[in-house]
This record gives sequence, C-alpha cells and structure tokens, in this order.
Amino acid sequence: MENKQSSNIRWHHATVTRSRRQLLNGHSSVVLWFTGLSGSGKSSMAHAVEERLYQMNCRTFVLDGDNVRHGLCGDLGFSEADRSENIRRIGETAKLFVEAGIIVLTAFISPFRGDRQRVRSLMPHGEFVEIYVRCPLEICEGRDVKGLYKRARAGLIKDFTGISSPYEEPEVAELTVDTHLLDIDQSVDAVIRLLRNRGIIANQDDC
Ligand code: ADX
Repeated sequence: MENKQSSNIRWHHATVTRSRRQLLNGHSSVVLWFTGLSGSGKSSMAHAVEERLYQMNCRTFVLDGDNVRHGLCGDLGFSEADRSENIRRIGETAKLFVEAGIIVLTAFISPFRGDRQRVRSLMPHGEFVEIYVRCPLEICEGRDVKGLYKRARAGLIKDFTGISSPYEEPEVAELTVDTHLLDIDQSVDAVIRLLRNRGIIANQDDC
C-alpha cells in the first residue's frame, strides 16, 4: 500500500515457504483475474474453471464481486474511488492466497485499467493472469440476470458500468474469451489450455 500508516513493524519470514507449499500441491499458484461487464459470465466462468481444477486435485479459491461486497468490501459503493479501493483490497487478498500456494480466481468487473495494472504490479511477473470475459453490452443487457440493467436504464441505479460508468477494455489480457460465441465448456477449456501452456498446472489430468 502506498500510504502505509503503520510503523515499528517487521516482516516475519516463514519456514514453510511458498515454494514448499507449491511442491506439496504439485502446481504453482497464480491469480486468474476475470474482468468484464456485469452479466458477461465472469462468476460462471470462475466457478466452472474452479470445478475443473478441483477435479484435477488443484487447490483453488474464488473471490467473487457480489460475495466480497457482503463482507470485506461491504463498506464500499460504486464511485470510481470506491471501486479502486475494492480492487486494491481484492488484489492484496489475492496476493495472500497466491502466497498460500492457491490458484485464486477473481470475478470482479474491475472496469479501470489503472486498478487492474496496480494489482498486476503487486505480483511477480507471470503470476497475474488477466482474462477478459468479453460480451457485447447489448447481450449482457438482454440477459439482465439480476434485473440491474433495467433499473440502471430507468435511472434507479447510478454509476452503472456500461450505462453510466465506463468499462475500460483490457489491452494486455493474457486471454480473451468471447462468452457470447463459446459455451461454458469451451470457455473453460481455453483457460485450462492457457494454464497448461504456461506450466502453471501439469499436462496430465492430475495436478
Ligand atoms: S467493481 O466495479 O468494483 O469491480 P464488483 O465486481 O465488485 O464491481 O461488483 C459488481 C456487481 O455489483 C455487479 O455484478 C452487480 O451485481 C452489482 N452492482 C450494483 N450496483 C452496481 C453498479 N453501479 N455498477 C456495476 N455493478 C453494480
């Protein structure tokens, strides 16, 4: 954190290191950062990828926008400043999970490039894997699973991403998945392929 307030603190080095945890787990740990509009399929994808990884005996955890906003980020709204703080906290949390040897999957709109870049820079090179869950606004709005687009159009929700608040598309995503063109299994396959190609998980069916 840039504005560190605490002083007289000292980092304690663990003997059970991250590399020892990874050896035990049989896979490396990264953050799979799913970004995209509300209704694009981030949560569905994150959970489906997690399910697949679980079946391969990998250690995983999903951090999901709607859930995290009930607790850790329950004090935050949807202004630009609050969204930045939301993403900063998630980034730091994800980093702890990665330290713990876990493949962490995050599903947040995370609409601002600068915020995603800041999280990327928290992690060693290659450990922040940005996945753009791409889906045209009209389709997300047509799905309107939670009825929020309708309410946003009616002016009942302010700062709604895609309607009255911007979404900045990734320029450097490691993977883009077009969820309006692929079914969920094909989308998951694309992520698993990426993890194998990058040596994050092994090539066989078991981590
Ligand atoms: S983020 O912009 O800070 O990354 P986050 O992913 O945590 O957003 O939360 C988005 C979820 O909150 C949406 O899926 C939707 O259910 C709900 N939501 C409520 N108000 C808004 C809003 N103004 N803009 C976007 N999503 C909203």
